[in-house]
Amino acid sequence: MIKRTHTCGELRAENAGQEVVLNGWVGKKRDLGGIIFIDIRDRYGITQLKISPEKLAPHSIASGLGNEFVISAKGKVIERESVNKNIPTGLIEVDVDVLEVLNESEVPPFVVEEDVKAADDLRLKYRYLDLRRNSITSNLVLRSTVYQIVHKYFEKHNFVEVETPILMKSTPEGARDYLVPSRVHNGKFYALPQSPQIYKQILMVSGLDRYVQICKCFRDEDLRADRQPEFTQIDLEMSFVTQDDVFEILEGMFVEIWKQVKSIDLQVPFRRMTYDESMNNYGSDKPDLRVIGDMRLFSLTNEVNGSAFKVFEDAINGGGIVCGIKLSGKEVTRKVIDNLTEYVKKYGFGGLGYLKFTTEGVQSPIVKFLSDEIIAEVKKKADAKEGDTLFILSGERKKVLSTLGLIRLRLAEDFQLIDETKFEFVWVTDFPLFQYDDEAKRFVAEHHVFTMPKPEYLKFLDSRVKEEVESIRANCYDLVLNGHEIISGSIRIHKSDIQKKVFDIIGLTDEEAKMKFGFILEAFRYGAPPHGGAAVGFDRVIAILCGLKSITDTIAFPKTLRASSLMDECPSEVAKEQLDELGISITPKQKL
Ligand code: AMO
Repeated sequence: MIKRTHTCGELRAENAGQEVVLNGWVGKKRDLGGIIFIDIRDRYGITQLKISPEKLAPHSIASGLGNEFVISAKGKVIERESVNKNIPTGLIEVDVDVLEVLNESEVPPFVVEEDVKAADDLRLKYRYLDLRRNSITSNLVLRSTVYQIVHKYFEKHNFVEVETPILMKSTPEGARDYLVPSRVHNGKFYALPQSPQIYKQILMVSGLDRYVQICKCFRDEDLRADRQPEFTQIDLEMSFVTQDDVFEILEGMFVEIWKQVKSIDLQVPFRRMTYDESMNNYGSDKPDLRVIGDMRLFSLTNEVNGSAFKVFEDAINGGGIVCGIKLSGKEVTRKVIDNLTEYVKKYGFGGLGYLKFTTEGVQSPIVKFLSDEIIAEVKKKADAKEGDTLFILSGERKKVLSTLGLIRLRLAEDFQLIDETKFEFVWVTDFPLFQYDDEAKRFVAEHHVFTMPKPEYLKFLDSRVKEEVESIRANCYDLVLNGHEIISGSIRIHKSDIQKKVFDIIGLTDEEAKMKFGFILEAFRYGAPPHGGAAVGFDRVIAILCGLKSITDTIAFPKTLRASSLMDECPSEVAKEQLDELGISITPKQKL
């Protein structure tokens, strides 16, 4: 092999005249009947090779080259006659004297090019070919850069990086566990960690004080664009801290990353908003604050109370709310309204009210039910002008807010009201400690069972009045960036009496608590310090830095939405002997 002197992305006009060697893959080949041009590619870029017919040996080799052959080319850098302004090496080409085939390639199943045409499944099956495209490798390179920044940052701040087990006790955290059968302990299972939550808290009991780990987490849950079954967290935990200390250390990390990767100086401290403010104003606990004009929701319950419109009246009399959102100065067609109406129907609403303020007056099918006074009140509350449209929903409070929150995002997207140049960070704080699970007819932890209630709500831990339990707020927080939850964390319970009360509320008996969390509860009996922490969704941060809508292409070997890997075809069946050794027999699932 003639070894490279330069990479394929390195040569510039000032290299003209130099003798160089490039190693790489054959991208495009153009045979003009005489001169052959080849784009040689590696992860650093593309350079054009020129092979003249007078160079008999290299020319004959070049004629036989196919896409993705691995080659070595030696020659002189010359200035190009027709400059290619689209690539950094576009001013030069290499006039080849020696050409060597380092390896052949079968005809690839798709053409490796930036503007790839192949379907997603094919690209995932041949992921190694897809990874030859700069638009994906550059994500991995950026990801690697961010790892290094994160490691250095936490080392500078005296954190200890500790690896925690991958095979652990099944302690369900919210999603389903991935289970691993034990051969030695027949009939018993390990679980893959949904996060290192329990271990990092135990490390605090051990006095480690400041722990960090870039770790893999595994969750068997419904997947979507920002969820993979195995994903990466920057997981951290700190002792003797308040919420502010956790925020400060994490804000510093983002300042460092954004400075080095984007050359942007982030303003800290980040904005903060309570969960209640976020839900009331944006209909979401992950508000996208890039929306031009902010487009906050507003309550219209008082303004429309007493109208002749039965839908509003029923909602208000049933303890619900009436709420609106305003779209300013945009042409709202019949089609827009029909689409939005269909959309809210999916969430159980009979329809979507709207009021269009035009120069000819208010247009709306419900205007006949609303008196002039009510219309004037509504207009005032919404600060509406001619050209604005209000969308109004009524019903159960949480459902109305969250559906209007979705409408806000839809309108922002459809009317291009999202400022894509912005990075809007916001801490959402004071989450409810519990959520009522209507199906299971019991309370479940909103974040996880170790989250500390805010001191002023401790009194409600003894209450069994639904409203009081629901009102308990926790020292629990998320960091949201551009509408994506990128961090979640909390200050933890370190006192066993409080922990027991939380278990009681979620209906966990002492026996069950001991079975599920016995070891951590025991550890907590030996001097657990006050502590708290958080975990950063690393893949989501990288996706945002790369401007991607999905985390798939921030991961070298991702899984599909059905949690399978098309390249290595997992999950797969295993040999009967393997199952026998584990004492497992498969009972085919009944088709539902
Ligand atoms: P949580 O479950 O909220 O908290 O996870 C923390 C962050 O991890 C990211 N995340 C995911 N990213 C990709 N795919 C997934 N399936 C996925 N699930 C979660 C999100 C989320 O904010 N142990 C606690 C943290 C703590 O309290 O310290 C935990 O794991 O960005």
